[in-house]
Amino acid sequence: MEREQKEEIYRQVTDAIRATLEGETDLIASMATIACLLHHSLDHFFWTGFYRVVAPGELLIGSYQGTLGCLHISFDRGVCGAAARSEETIVVPNVHQFPGHIACDSNSKSEIVVPVFDDRDELIAVLDVDSAEYDAFDEVDKRHLEEIVTFLRNKTTLSP
Ligand code: SME
Repeated sequence: MEREQKEEIYRQVTDAIRATLEGETDLIASMATIACLLHHSLDHFFWTGFYRVVAPGELLIGSYQGTLGCLHISFDRGVCGAAARSEETIVVPNVHQFPGHIACDSNSKSEIVVPVFDDRDELIAVLDVDSAEYDAFDEVDKRHLEEIVTFLRNKTTLSP
């Protein structure tokens, strides 16, 4: 995809997410909305969803779109675990070259994982996006996805 085209799609989907979440306080509803709108807006998204931090060092599948995702991921495993540990976005151009990559679906070839923080700057989740193409994600995806997950900062949920 051309860079300018990708920027434009992200601008539109960011506006749609912002408008849809206006006044919504629930974290799970907000995550489900983000996963849905992103997944159906960007053609290179093969799997789009959240893993929530449910215990120290442990991620559990949350709202997602795509094929079946693995349920539990420890912080010491996979790209999701590495992003949760480092609290930094990780872009993986070729998942087969990432040590410890977890293959929930063998069609996944590249991946980006973005940490999600609450308004106290605590890590609450990661946003994981997979593509069926190699090298599908770049700094355009990183910048926009990092902005989109900030919309979750002030949302709350009754369960951890
Ligand atoms: N590939 C991820 C696991 C999650 S699935 O792709 C949905 C990882 O290595 O952390």
